[in-house]
Amino acid sequence: MVLAPNTTSLDVLVREIETIATEQLKSGGVVLTTSFSKEDQILTWAVMEGGADVEVVSLDTGYLFPATRQTWEATQLHFGREIRALRPNEAEVVSLDGLDRIYQSTEGRKQCCSVRKIQPLRAALAGKGAWLTGLRRAHSPNRAAMERRERDAAWGILKFHPLLEWDDQMLDSAVASTGVPVNPLHSMGYPSIGCAPCTRPVLPHEDPRAGRWWWESSSKECGLHRG
Ligand code: ADX
Ligand code: SF4
Repeated sequence: MVLAPNTTSLDVLVREIETIATEQLKSGGVVLTTSFSKEDQILTWAVMEGGADVEVVSLDTGYLFPATRQTWEATQLHFGREIRALRPNEAEVVSLDGLDRIYQSTEGRKQCCSVRKIQPLRAALAGKGAWLTGLRRAHSPNRAAMERRERDAAWGILKFHPLLEWDDQMLDSAVASTGVPVNPLHSMGYPSIGCAPCTRPVLPHEDPRAGRWWWESSSKECGLHRG
């Protein structure tokens, strides 16, 4: 389905999320993971707008940009609702022995992502019926091959990507019309924002995810989504 960048697409989105939440009530409920990206802010808006029964959570890896933390606080104030922080296990964090290893090998980097992102999220998704994300096909060739609704075998959960077909213009138009808080880093050359040690700005002609784990030639995924 191709959606136009107008209020209709936002109405469709609100209804789609309500339907998913209702369908999944008996299966343990739905979790929306947010990194406070523009995509995730629109999904959070749609959850709040429709009053859908969806838990909204964010991974506090310990290395978020101060601007992302401010966006988190602004979002809670904007919607008048807490967005639950998922934090890593302290002993596991100590065992990582700092950040040096993330730049030494992809394995070392993935170990950090495992402790700070994968394991806390695995705990939060346990027993849940479905996981909502802000993935879009335009992000990367890997994501271009995804389906709006898919069973993720690695996670053992149903995943929904309601914005999968949205392009940049639709997203920006939705951000403008809903008035959701926007991470100020987006206007400073950061189209895609992750942890501070692993994200740098990109040039206008570069791939939007070129600034993520820029020293690696990997598939630029941290294990949250199949890479
Ligand atoms: S990542 O895998 O490269 O980090 P990306 O930043 O593109 O992911 O975001 C894609 C989706 O992953 C988001 O819509 C969100 O559902 C989830 N996600 C990424 N980072 C976080 C985070 N820190 N907290 C919660 N969810 C996140
Ligand atoms: Fe660690 Fe970087 Fe992964 Fe964040 S993105 S968890 S700092 S390796």
